[in-house]
Amino acid sequence: MIKQKLPGLAAGLKDRLIQQSLERKLRQAEQEHGRAAMPLTSIRPGVPEEHYRFDLHPGYKQLRIMYDGAARLGLQHPFFKVHEGTASEQTSIGGQTYINYASYNYLGMSGDPVVTQAAKDAIDRYGTSVSASRLVSGERAVHRELEIALARLYEVDDAVTFVSGHATNVSTIGHLFGPRDLVLHDEFIHNSVLQGIQLSGARRLPFPHNDWRTLDRLLDEQRRDFERVLIVVEGIYSMDGDFPDLPRFIEIKRRHRAFLMVDEAHSLGVMGAHGRGIREHFGLAGTDVDIWMGTLSKTLAGCGGYIAGESALVEHLKFLAPGFLYSVGMPPSVAAASLAALQRMLALPQRVATLQARGRFFLEQARAAGIDTGHSQGLAVVPAILGSSVRATRLSAALFERGINVQPILYPAVPEKSARLRFFVSCLHTESQIEQTVEALAALT
Ligand SMILES: Cc1ncc(COP(=O)(O)O)c(C=O)c1O
Repeated sequence: MIKQKLPGLAAGLKDRLIQQSLERKLRQAEQEHGRAAMPLTSIRPGVPEEHYRFDLHPGYKQLRIMYDGAARLGLQHPFFKVHEGTASEQTSIGGQTYINYASYNYLGMSGDPVVTQAAKDAIDRYGTSVSASRLVSGERAVHRELEIALARLYEVDDAVTFVSGHATNVSTIGHLFGPRDLVLHDEFIHNSVLQGIQLSGARRLPFPHNDWRTLDRLLDEQRRDFERVLIVVEGIYSMDGDFPDLPRFIEIKRRHRAFLMVDEAHSLGVMGAHGRGIREHFGLAGTDVDIWMGTLSKTLAGCGGYIAGESALVEHLKFLAPGFLYSVGMPPSVAAASLAALQRMLALPQRVATLQARGRFFLEQARAAGIDTGHSQGLAVVPAILGSSVRATRLSAALFERGINVQPILYPAVPEKSARLRFFVSCLHTESQIEQTVEALAALT
C-alpha cells in the first residue's frame, strides 16, 4: 500500500535515508538524556521535500537566485546597513559620515531634542511597554492625546492609532470590506493596501496612475455589481513623489456613492503651508474624505499608523479591527514622540516651507542635469529612474563611495524598467549638499 503511494525508487530511498538518520539521532538523544524516543512509524512517507523544508521554499529559492546573480556580477548588497546614530540629513555608517537620502525623517523630528525629551519623560512615567491590548487592559493618557490631536488635524470626529503603519492598512481594509465589495486603487498603491484587499476578499481593480477618468469609467461599469465600494489613493506616491488631483476623486466618489481612503504616509508634514497634508494643499474639508490614513514613522518620528474619520468608523475599528483589538497598544514613548513631533510641525511652519523649497531645488537641479525624475513634483520624494536593477544597485554603491547614502529601489518593488534611486529630501539638507549630490549623480550616470 505504502509502496504504491511512493512516486519512485528515488523518493522511497530518500524517505528511508531520512528515517535512518532520524533513528540514529533519536537513539543518540535517548542515550544522552534518557528520554523516550518519538514513535518512528508516525513519519509520513511521500511528502515532497519542498513541503517541509524552508530552504526549498519557492520564495526563498527566488531570493537566492537574485542574491547569487548579484554576487556573480560583483554587486554588493545594499540592504541592512547599520546606522550608528540618528538617520537625518546626515548619517554615520561604519564610522564614516554620509549625506543621507535613505530615511524619511522629513522635518528632522527624529533626533529633535524636544521630541526626544517627550519620549524619555514617557518612559520615566510609564516604562517601555503597555504590556497588553488597550481595549482589554486599558490605555495611557498619551494615546488619546495623540489621537485627539490627529482628529483635530483633519477636523474630523476621532482617530485611532495602530502599532504599525502597514498593519493599519491591512487591518482596516481587511476588516471593513468583504467578498461582495469592490476596492479600486491607483496602480502605484502601497503594498499594505494590496495586502488589506487580499485579506478582505473584496474584488480588486487597479486604475492607471492618477487617472480619475478611467476610475470614473470603471465605476460606471462596475458599481451596480457590488455592495460597498472603496477607492484608495496616496497623498504623495512614495516611489514617485507625485500626488493625485484629490478634488476630482472626491467628486467621483460622491457621484458613485463610494468611500474614499487617502494614505498620507508621505504627504503629512510635506504638503500644505503647515504640513497638514494634501487636504491643506487643496483647501478641502476633513469630511470630504471618508478614511484618512497615515503613518507615524515619517514626519511624526515614531512608529505606527492612524485612521482618522467619523466616530462610527473609528469606534468600529477600536472595538473590532483585529490589528487593534488583538495587538498590544503602542509604547507610550512612541505616542509621546509622535505627539510632540505633530505639535512642533504645527508650531514651526518654516520647517515645512524649507522642506518644500529643498525638494523643489533638488528636482530643478536634477532635471537641469538631465536626470529622469519621472512624475516627481519635488515634494520630499525625488526618484532618479535608471531602468535596470543592476544599474540602480551599481550607482547606489558608487554614490556611497562618494559619501552619499541613497537606496536603490529594485524589482519587484517597482517594475524592472523603472528601477531607480529614490531620494528622500529633508528640511535639514542644505542647498550645497543637494548640489554636491546631483553633481555626483550626473557624473556617474
Ligand atoms: C504609502 C505607505 N503606506 C503605508 C506604509 C507603511 O508604513 P510603516 O512603514 O510605518 O509601517 C508605507 C511605508 O513606508 C507607505 O509608504
